[in-house]
Amino acid sequence: MLMHSIVFATGNSNKIAEVSQLLDGKIDIQSLGDIGCEETLPETSATIAGNASEKAWYVHKNYKVNCFSEDTGLEVEALNGEPGVYSARYAGPAHDDEANMSLLLANMKGEEDRRARFHTVIALIIDGKEHQFEGVVEGQIIHHKKGNQGFGYDPIFMPDGYNRTFAQMSSEEKSSISHRGQAVQKLVAFLKGKV
Ligand code: IMP
Repeated sequence: MLMHSIVFATGNSNKIAEVSQLLDGKIDIQSLGDIGCEETLPETSATIAGNASEKAWYVHKNYKVNCFSEDTGLEVEALNGEPGVYSARYAGPAHDDEANMSLLLANMKGEEDRRARFHTVIALIIDGKEHQFEGVVEGQIIHHKKGNQGFGYDPIFMPDGYNRTFAQMSSEEKSSISHRGQAVQKLVAFLKGKV
């Protein structure tokens, strides 16, 4: 089926702008606000894929639209994959980036194995059928924050093959290698096949 618009189930306007730009205006991206969805979307799963799926199905069922959602987590090897699905609320319900980073650095004190990965899953629902797209970027948790661009855990994450953190990169450079960039590229390739 040809499609002209799709809902991105996020409240983050930067993410909507990023995907819209990659679609070259071929498909119109609508926000939750555009469809009158003001409520917080459910995220009760123990996995990133499960949360992405849950949010997308919620919007699809309640608003009868084709849509996609995304969920991301930082998985730290020495912490058995934590904070993972709890990345946003690691230091508490306030979703405070600074507090989350400080807690992670404290929990990694003295730890030599600094390996970590960002993991994104996008769940797309078209005509009642779900498709998932994944992106992973491997790297290291450094000992002190570096850089002031980006958001979240960017200042303490250095992707493999670089000697700068995500917070020391432009948004274009970060997107070209990042977890979300990879997943979005796969989504966009799929959607372009539907135009
Ligand atoms: P969400 O899935 O966008 O809600 O992200 C969950 C949490 O992971 C956020 O609160 C951020 O702290 C973190 N996060 C997501 N994406 C990134 C990123 O690209 N860089 C750094 N942190 C991120």
